[in-house]
Amino acid sequence: MIPALTDSLLLAAQQSGGVPLFPEQASSVAKQVDYLYFFLVGVTVFFSVLIFSLVFYFAIRYRRRSEDERPLPIFGSIQLELLWTIIPLGLTMVMFFWGAKLFYEMRRPPAESTELFVVGKQWMWKIQHPEGQREINELHVPIGRPVKLTMTSEDVIHSFYIPAFRIKMDVLPGRYTELWFTPTKVGEYHLFCAEYCGTKHSGMIGRVVVMEQADYETWLTGAPAGESLEQAGARLFRQYNCHTCHEAGPTARGPSLNEIFGKTVRLRGGQTLVVNEDYLRESIVQPNAKVVEGYDPVMPTYQGQVSEEGILQLIAYIKSLTSPAPAATPAAKGASR
Ligand code: CUA
Repeated sequence: MIPALTDSLLLAAQQSGGVPLFPEQASSVAKQVDYLYFFLVGVTVFFSVLIFSLVFYFAIRYRRRSEDERPLPIFGSIQLELLWTIIPLGLTMVMFFWGAKLFYEMRRPPAESTELFVVGKQWMWKIQHPEGQREINELHVPIGRPVKLTMTSEDVIHSFYIPAFRIKMDVLPGRYTELWFTPTKVGEYHLFCAEYCGTKHSGMIGRVVVMEQADYETWLTGAPAGESLEQAGARLFRQYNCHTCHEAGPTARGPSLNEIFGKTVRLRGGQTLVVNEDYLRESIVQPNAKVVEGYDPVMPTYQGQVSEEGILQLIAYIKSLTSPAPAATPAAKGASR
């Protein structure tokens, strides 16, 4: 019933003279989000109307009719108590499990997702494709394929928001957040910053272009790519002399980074952690926060020396050392000792 109602509402909104009440549904989760939203609105409207009607009805029906009228004392009703406990409990549990299911779906990017990188700064969105294409305030994606965004900020808190995809996520300085979506409709959609981030917050906007696969490939070859992310990372790895400590074999001052991504490492002090993007980033800007067991805290910080985009490139390179064939890039060849 809800889907049918929602669809007719949306249709009515679209036909109401060009001012859409809701953005288009252009991603795999958009419909699901709308159904849940309409359910919440529906329940809210129903109970608001019910409660207000009853307030008016009771006010008239049970009004005091004369000065000396005394109402009979009431000692409660177990049936009523049960009724108005169980019904709201049921309804809120439906909201909870429905919302949780959708939340989990929206927070877990499919394994086969294309990974793009987003850096927010006052006041623009910078996007890097794995093949090396860079865009500012534009995001080109192919239809029907899941895309995962790994996002961070160079300065303050921003929020990456694509209404037509029904996705929004804070973009924070000093850590990575993720979003994913599968576009389902070719077209152009708004991209907003949804967190007040300074004078030109309202200008921190852009467009998302969803293209057919073939058009997307044409676009990819047309956009100047330069180095891929991995290649850029490999270049930075040399430039900052990371290799002098991290590639020198068993006597090295730093642990080898070969196949490190996704592994569990033991730290000084006995804790363990799984190497992910956040840990790699922290190890670049705050190297001595969590040092791997068997090594001394001797690495200097690279905070302020490497840009956020540079850090993303270094991470892409380090991740590539995980693959069975790290010799994919010429620079990576030197890495495999
Ligand atoms: Cu960035 Cu608002």
